[in-house]
Amino acid sequence: MAQRTIMIFDTTLRDGEQTPGVNLEMAEKIEIAQALAKLRVDVIEAGFPVASPGDFAGVSAVAAQVKGPVIAALARAEKKDIEIAAEAIRKAERPRIHTFIATSDIHLAYKLKMTRQQVLDAAEAAVNYARKFVEDVEFSAEDASRSDWDFLCQVYAAAIRAGATVINVPDTVGYTTPGEFGRLIRYIRDNVPGIEQAAISAHCHDDLGLAIANSLAAVENGATQIECCINGLGERAGNASLEEVVMALATRSEYYRASTRIDTRQIYRTSRLVSTLSGIVVPPNKAIVGDNAFAHESGIHQHGVLNNPFTYEIMRPETVGASKSSIVLGKHSGRHAFEERLQSMGYELDAAAITALFAKFKELADRKKTVYDRDIEALVTDTALAKTEMYRLIYHHVVSGTQTLATASVRLEGASGIVEEACCGDGPVDATFKAIEKAIGVSICLKDYQIKAVTSGEDALGEATVWVEQDGMTFSGRGLSTDIIEASAKAYVSAINKMFAACGRQGAPQAAGGN
Ligand code: KIV
Ligand code: ZN
Repeated sequence: MAQRTIMIFDTTLRDGEQTPGVNLEMAEKIEIAQALAKLRVDVIEAGFPVASPGDFAGVSAVAAQVKGPVIAALARAEKKDIEIAAEAIRKAERPRIHTFIATSDIHLAYKLKMTRQQVLDAAEAAVNYARKFVEDVEFSAEDASRSDWDFLCQVYAAAIRAGATVINVPDTVGYTTPGEFGRLIRYIRDNVPGIEQAAISAHCHDDLGLAIANSLAAVENGATQIECCINGLGERAGNASLEEVVMALATRSEYYRASTRIDTRQIYRTSRLVSTLSGIVVPPNKAIVGDNAFAHESGIHQHGVLNNPFTYEIMRPETVGASKSSIVLGKHSGRHAFEERLQSMGYELDAAAITALFAKFKELADRKKTVYDRDIEALVTDTALAKTEMYRLIYHHVVSGTQTLATASVRLEGASGIVEEACCGDGPVDATFKAIEKAIGVSICLKDYQIKAVTSGEDALGEATVWVEQDGMTFSGRGLSTDIIEASAKAYVSAINKMFAACGRQGAPQAAGGN
């Protein structure tokens, strides 16, 4: 059997953005979409335009600015959704409308309150209508894995008759198992009239930890498109993780007789970017992109790897862009060496961006003896985030100790000039956060706060992440510094900036006595 090419449909910006606590700003969506294009995904599902004006604007911006992959927009099987989705992807080089309706009896009875015939008609009508706007239409039968197989086949057949180019089989609730899902894909292949005119896609959720196994079972049984998210983001327990599907197919390509078009060297960088912008931390033991994915602790393993890496490594870290250079940079390193390192790490930046980063690198090298790749990576994403700043921390001072009430003063630069305030608190971080709130004049609901070292060593960069809540939405912010209070303050300001960008300045509760 010849090798098949499996299409990678990335839904980080749609299902991934449905991850609890994730809220991406427009600039962040574009940044992620550009990284996905560089990763060479075949399809980017950019959002669900009817869901909100922010979603519509995000999809439109991605469609207008990101070239290469197909840009898909999600729409329920309803005229209004389809019209809005079509408008959002109007400027895409290769637009796709992805329309869906549920097919399981439980969804029909309790959610849609529709009969099977009504669902069948709605699916056919939706695809028909979507085809009036674009040539590429994907149809999904939501909760397919819990639907009656024969009814499912009838719905897919109707969708194909109406012009669907892709039929997607979602395991919406992460309920199926590899054997069962594989049989379902084969059943669809064997029983849907016209199936040869459409690609078969699988969309698996990870509620039982089976999303990857189910996606691979789908490939073995004839699926030619897999839907997935970077770092396995997605509703509830997430979707199949892109890096795991892609590397399973790359590493076991002979077994699956299949491959993808992904540039695997971009995987690690894209994973870090998505983690930073989404605020969802990658666990150290996560396959492919976790910090420990290529670390060998046991002496026996280390010995084997030194003699021949393949004794204990089924793939090389450089294949996924995770190799660490043995040459470290420091304050004596010049711009040329810095630029080369950026390139070898997969960053393609223009001269102005490199100049700005080089200045930050020099500042960091003055405070830190050795600058590692992880530090550089953190600087790049930090600079990317800074583009959306409304307030910027320009000064902070803290006094704290066992016998002293912690006191912090901060100075921030905002659109209307400089604001500064001082406050006391339960420790230096609390005092700093209170001073920031007072200076900006808002009262913030802090949901969570984390601090960790980016690399090892006493002078390591500290990376602070905070999550704040407003109107039921969560916004994360990240800050970086060798001084952990400064990192925390930057993270807090960044989360507040994101909150203002999404909800407006006036949406946030005013601080007592604030300006
Ligand atoms: O999980 C699901 O069923 C979905 C569909 C909209 C494809 O995300
Ligand atoms: Zn889903």
